[in-house]
Amino acid sequence: MSFYRASESLFLALLLGGVLTQVGCFSFNFPNFSDQAESEVITQNLHSRIDRVLQAIQITPDVNTDSYVVNRSGRAFYRKPFRLWRKRKDVQASFNTTFVLNISPLTTPGGEGLAFILAADPTTLPQSSDGQWLGIVNAEPTNGSSQANVVAVEFDTRQSYPEDLDDNHVGLDVNSIYSIKQVSLGDYGINLSAAVDVTVRVQYDGKNMTVSVPITGGTGEYTPVISLPLNLSDYLPEKVFLGFSASTSNYTQLNRINSWEFEGSDIGEDPELLWVWITVPVVFVFISGIVFYLYWERKHREQSEDAYPMIEDQIRRSSMAPRKFSLRELRKATGNFNPKSKLGKGGFGTVYKGLLANKVVAVKRVSKDSSQGKQEFIAEVTTIGSLRHRNLVKLIGWCYEKRELLIVYEYMPNSSLDKFIFGLEEAPLSWERRHIIIHGVAQALDYLHNGCEKRVLHRDIKASNIMLDSDFNARLGDFGLARTIQQSDVTHHSTKEIAGTPGYMAPESFLVGRATVETDVYAFGVLVLEVICGRRPGNQGEHNDYNNGIVYWLWELRRTDRMLDAVDSKIIGQFDEDEMVGMLVLGLACCHPNPHQRPSMRTVLQVLTGEAPPPLVPTERPAFEWPAMPPSFKEDTENAFIKSQLTPFTELSGR
Ligand SMILES: *[C@@H]1O[C@H](CO)[C@@H](O)[C@H](O)[C@H]1NC(C)=O
Ligand SMILES: *[C@@H]1O[C@H](CO)[C@@H](O)[C@H](O)[C@H]1NC(C)=O
Ligand SMILES: *[C@@H]1O[C@H](CO)[C@@H](O)[C@H](O)[C@H]1NC(C)=O
Ligand SMILES: *[C@@H]1O[C@H](CO)[C@@H](O)[C@H](O)[C@H]1NC(C)=O
Ligand SMILES: *[C@@H]1O[C@H](CO)[C@@H](O)[C@H](O)[C@H]1NC(C)=O
Ligand SMILES: *[C@@H]1O[C@H](CO)[C@@H](O)[C@H](O)[C@H]1NC(C)=O
Repeated sequence: MSFYRASESLFLALLLGGVLTQVGCFSFNFPNFSDQAESEVITQNLHSRIDRVLQAIQITPDVNTDSYVVNRSGRAFYRKPFRLWRKRKDVQASFNTTFVLNISPLTTPGGEGLAFILAADPTTLPQSSDGQWLGIVNAEPTNGSSQANVVAVEFDTRQSYPEDLDDNHVGLDVNSIYSIKQVSLGDYGINLSAAVDVTVRVQYDGKNMTVSVPITGGTGEYTPVISLPLNLSDYLPEKVFLGFSASTSNYTQLNRINSWEFEGSDIGEDPELLWVWITVPVVFVFISGIVFYLYWERKHREQSEDAYPMIEDQIRRSSMAPRKFSLRELRKATGNFNPKSKLGKGGFGTVYKGLLANKVVAVKRVSKDSSQGKQEFIAEVTTIGSLRHRNLVKLIGWCYEKRELLIVYEYMPNSSLDKFIFGLEEAPLSWERRHIIIHGVAQALDYLHNGCEKRVLHRDIKASNIMLDSDFNARLGDFGLARTIQQSDVTHHSTKEIAGTPGYMAPESFLVGRATVETDVYAFGVLVLEVICGRRPGNQGEHNDYNNGIVYWLWELRRTDRMLDAVDSKIIGQFDEDEMVGMLVLGLACCHPNPHQRPSMRTVLQVLTGEAPPPLVPTERPAFEWPAMPPSFKEDTENAFIKSQLTPFTELSGR
């Protein structure tokens, strides 16, 4: 033994603890072929199948289930290959197998026969291997050729050519239908064509192949019928598939295997391969270690640095990333977040007034203890960062540093709409101004829903999110809950809470648990009503003179034809009564309990500009139905198109 071999063996022995020298076992046992055997036996495309009633393999078709039984051949194999030898041919496997076959003639005489086979390829059946070929080989090109790669023990029930001994014999075939040895079974008291179970044992010890049948009288002992020296490694590849083949011709029969037991030695893999088996796991463990370490390290860093790279990545990925500011710049701009420059407290942070390069800005500082903060920060920066519309608050830039999340907007000198309509500011807004504001919000929403590249849902339309610029034009702001529809990244929608603000949320929100274009329209409808009435939306259970919220209150007034009673007293006398009723009806249409009946923002805009009449709204509040019925009338085709492609978010986040 060379030094190399010696050290190799020593190494392997050490590593495998003697596995090399230990011979394993490759075995299986089918007492019958039940459903479960279907996954273990390969029969596809080979005209063979497992008969669930008989719990047997039908190697050629059965008249009961197949219309065509003439001139058929088939093969069925055990799923896993058996290693017969190793590259160094001095290692040969051995096996013992016992099976029960049952051949039942359908014609007189029956035909043709069945075989136990060892073959290289379990997926192909030689073409035209029906008739005398028993599914083992075909006339051309495989019969007698080494490319057949098949060794078979045939059980022939028809003498189909002169070389055949008789119509009841067993033969050993190597790459050919012409057996190297054949023996008549009549001498052993066996009639293959008698539709009875015949038990056969085939043994291979690495040198000789032996076929035995039970001794008559049922003592359980076997008598060899054929025993021949045979070196399978001369004819077959290293790994073979074990199975059965059979065929019919003009003469037909059922070729069935009822049970099958196999026990073979497991000679293991080639030593060369063993090196692979050893090195691959070692390398794998090593690499996984490194990967795990890097992952752990990154995770660790993220926890300490609070996912800084991730936030930056996500913002950078959005098409029109706004400017990034340094924390130092924004500290300076706001006087180190001086409480005196505080403009207000938003949904999830505080807004400060600041001065950046002689320009007044608003800086929102997202509160650190808001669990949603980061997600909403990203949503806001990526959604409005890429939008341009004169009725949207413009985002100037952002900053993420030292766990501070900051967003810079253009400054809105007149604060938010709620301050004016709910009577907090001295000077009330005129009806004309209110109408312009409603129109502006509608334009902004129409732009989000239909006008920009990706459809955006705002999800939190309310008076306090409508900012007013120096000319009191509406600017829709606070995009913390906004989502672009195409955004497929769902990992950030972690909570199942429903987003939005109570009072502005459509009734179906609580059932579908997600935002849609229609839920935005609903919130817009509430906004219209509160701007006209100068009242907060109210809530179910809240005590005020309009029980159950502003929407219910107005439906009630509509029923009694007293809608104008709801109009804010501060604007009395500034409007045309019919026009005002039309506006209230538009608001109610947007708050229709059935989301399909709500107009699109496009339609709302047309009503506001007088291009379209106010939508038809029943005089009594329609019952909320769920699931919502599709619209009974078509608004317009464009609208229908938008609704049909409505693809809302599957999950929501709360605030
Ligand atoms: C079956 O094959 C034989 C031999 O090739 C042929 O003579 C016969 O017509 C075939 N029978 C049918 C029904 O196709
Ligand atoms: C089988 O044949 C191979 C070469 O084809 C040879 O190496 C091996 O020793 C043979 N085995 C027996 C048992 O004769
Ligand atoms: C075998 O059995 C079949 C069916 O019972 C019968 O037709 C045939 O003659 C038998 N053959 C022999 C050799 O006994
Ligand atoms: C193999 O068969 C040969 C010839 O039939 C016989 O001489 C030999 O003893 C057999 N070897 C084994 C191991 O059965
Ligand atoms: C098979 O049967 C058909 C008629 O059914 C006949 O024409 C043909 O010659 C037969 N072939 C053989 C090989 O018996
Ligand atoms: C096959 O059976 C023989 C005798 O019955 C036994 O000596 C041998 O170990 C068996 N081989 C396998 C692989 O099970």
